[in-house]
Amino acid sequence: MLTKELILEILNKFYLDNQEVDVVSSGSIKNIVIYGNEINVDLEVTNPTLKSKNVIRENLLSFLKSNIDQKIELKINFIVGSSKKENKIYNPQRKISNISNIIAISSAKGGVGKSTVTANLAVSLSKMGFNVGVLDSDIYGPSMPIMFDVEEQKPLAVTIDGKSKMKPIENYGVKILSIGFFTKKDEAVIWRGPMASKALNQMIFDADWGELDFLLIDLPPGTGDIHLSIMQSLPISGAVVVSTPQNVALIDAKKGVSMFKKENINVPVLGFIENMAYFTPEELPRNKYYIFGKHGVQNLSNDMKIPFLGEIPLIQSVREAGDYGIPASMQDSTNIEEIFKNITKNMLSQLLIRNKELPKTEVIKITTMSGCSS
Ligand SMILES: Nc1ncnc2c1ncn2[C@@H]1O[C@H](COP(=O)(O)OP(=O)(O)OP(=O)(O)O)[C@@H](O)[C@H]1O
Ligand SMILES: [Mg+2]
Repeated sequence: MLTKELILEILNKFYLDNQEVDVVSSGSIKNIVIYGNEINVDLEVTNPTLKSKNVIRENLLSFLKSNIDQKIELKINFIVGSSKKENKIYNPQRKISNISNIIAISSAKGGVGKSTVTANLAVSLSKMGFNVGVLDSDIYGPSMPIMFDVEEQKPLAVTIDGKSKMKPIENYGVKILSIGFFTKKDEAVIWRGPMASKALNQMIFDADWGELDFLLIDLPPGTGDIHLSIMQSLPISGAVVVSTPQNVALIDAKKGVSMFKKENINVPVLGFIENMAYFTPEELPRNKYYIFGKHGVQNLSNDMKIPFLGEIPLIQSVREAGDYGIPASMQDSTNIEEIFKNITKNMLSQLLIRNKELPKTEVIKITTMSGCSS
């Protein structure tokens, strides 16, 4: 399956005759549309002669054929531009090639445990030996600073290749950036959509994340501006949808899935997680009370043919761990650590399946599976 991202990754290595930077980084590509095997490219050129256009057409077609498929067809719409380019569509700095997998943790409903799950999956992955980052994209209600006990910290600026970048805060082996680091604790953030998107973009592209195997994105509730902005800026490898088994939550979980499946978004859903699946008192671990209904998410995942990654009980220690800033997965050799570890492994398996099924793209790859063997 051809995707815009795949073509952009490939065209990253294609140079026009008179240019020192590739066609993507130089901003020469203004648009790409795909119809089956046919790729339509809007390409800005400075030399509009027929001969030059023919050479570009020939070179680009043979480049795409040899890198994708011999059956590729190409249509180029030449746009004559000045030699000095501004208004770049594909800004080279927007490539985040040092991050192998970006996973969005979502649910259209509030309060179902997205942030709790994000924090615990991150710790679990880090314990398995992966390099992990968490981007708290909940601009209006950031949770990660509290959940990782780094509320009082402020990211420092570091200079990388002459550019100033913010360094994520690190705790429990996880790198974290959140708007919460930049706002006053008790003040509400009142921003319009574009300002929020800008702040988010800075945390993504103007940050020194270093080499990451995984960047987990804790999404806010809903299916709004922030979600769109993230999906437009980042090549998301897959999404995980968290829900409680309650009917109202399931309706929203479905909405969340349909957002990812929309044609112009098209983010693979790696699976569902059932949070607060049942209540179990710490002193009577065998007793299970299905206070939000039984197996609601499991049933939904069967109906929608979306993998089920596992269930998390409603237990006091999970809530306390979040409030104290030590994610429950940090508690070695406990039942809850094991539960999150199994869910993490299931998520990794689904990611591997996706990697096999989807066309090769740089962003959907796992660099190492060491630590997942037990
Ligand atoms: N399995 C669980 N057991 C006990 N408490 C839990 C569990 N999961 C989440 N909680 C608690 O429920 C509350 C909501 O969880 P959380 O903040 O993770 O939800 P959210 O979906 O991120 O919410 P929001 O939509 O506001 O971002 C928190 O107080 C959290 O500690
Ligand atoms: Mg949250």
